[in-house]
Amino acid sequence: MTHTLNLFDIEQNALQVLTSNAREYYLGGAADEITLRANICAFQHIFLRPRILADVAERSLQTSVLEQAWTMPIGIAPTAMQKLAHPEGEHATLKAAQNLGVPMICSTTATVAIEDLLQARKGANAWFQVYVYKDREVTRELVQRARDAGCRAIVLTADTPYLGKRERETRSGFHLPPTMELPNYRGLGTAAKNVRKSKETSGLAEHFAKNIDPALGWTDIEWLAAQTALPLVVKGVLRADDAILAWKHGAKGVIVSNHGGRQLDTAIPSIHALPAIAEAIGEVVDVMLDGGIRRGTDVLKALALGAKAVFLGRPVLYGLAWQGEQGVERVLAILREELDLAMALCGIKSVHEIHRDILSLPHQHWH
Ligand SMILES: Cc1cc2nc3c(=O)[nH]c(=O)nc-3n(C[C@H](O)[C@H](O)[C@H](O)COP(=O)(O)O)c2cc1C
Repeated sequence: MTHTLNLFDIEQNALQVLTSNAREYYLGGAADEITLRANICAFQHIFLRPRILADVAERSLQTSVLEQAWTMPIGIAPTAMQKLAHPEGEHATLKAAQNLGVPMICSTTATVAIEDLLQARKGANAWFQVYVYKDREVTRELVQRARDAGCRAIVLTADTPYLGKRERETRSGFHLPPTMELPNYRGLGTAAKNVRKSKETSGLAEHFAKNIDPALGWTDIEWLAAQTALPLVVKGVLRADDAILAWKHGAKGVIVSNHGGRQLDTAIPSIHALPAIAEAIGEVVDVMLDGGIRRGTDVLKALALGAKAVFLGRPVLYGLAWQGEQGVERVLAILREELDLAMALCGIKSVHEIHRDILSLPHQHWH
């Protein structure tokens, strides 16, 4: 490709270099991939009502989330197995995040151990994503390791009692190559098993069925919050009543997310779910969003509907596959420039001045 101007160009570049195993795993969603597509389309149906002559010569993208300073309201969502994209894997992603002054949420299912990752990047802002295992000791230990390694928040992914029906993974026979491992599971007994391929499902689905606790309820959130002094963020919230429960049970933040369309197909696009959640708990909890963010205007729209920040999933994997650390930096830099320009063209000087009145919402009722 001659020009790499936006995140879609980077995606195209990445699709050329990814192995088919990784490509199908990264780009796929659940079932008919309706939510996967809707996450992106939903932003395209929201229009902006720009203000003119507002003196936008100086602008600021700086913000704070969970009382941490971020250079812009954009972070990196947890995505598994980054060495499938690039030999440096999670190391390259965290370097890029640190260089750009944004946080990275590190997945439990990473191809680099959390201790090694942070050892190599002292001072980086990393959050750690966990699931709750049937064996609670496994979760407790992971949370403690994350804290000892220097992570600054714990993110519980709450939309995954079972893995979604990801047909691409099954069709392509998705598997973790024998040269890679998932070192966060090292020493954790049964939880480490079953992540390799089986015939009918991806190994991951089996790993989930065997180890992740589908009986999880709100009292477990309280238990998890009590395991650490780090702020707890609940990821995968799509309803205001659940958001209120998350807050009442100890969450300091929620991420409005449908897991990038990889869990329940036809689940509501995250941007549609955001307004009700932000209205319900935006004053007391930091509300964040992921799913379908591909343009600076998408970030602006999410902030206008009440998000403090957004996270990127696939675009980061594509940047990583394309050019490692520099590719991820490029993804973040493009989005930063696009957000900055969108703000200027909307007559907005600071991310704190982004309000709902900048939007022209479609005439449908969003919940
Ligand atoms: C390949 C891939 C792996 C993922 N792995 C995880 C994971 O390990 N833990 C998690 O909470 N979410 C995971 N997610 C979901 C992302 O955190 C995020 O919710 C989603 O990718 C956002 O949508 P986007 O890809 O449109 O930006 C994964 C997503 C993808 C695409």
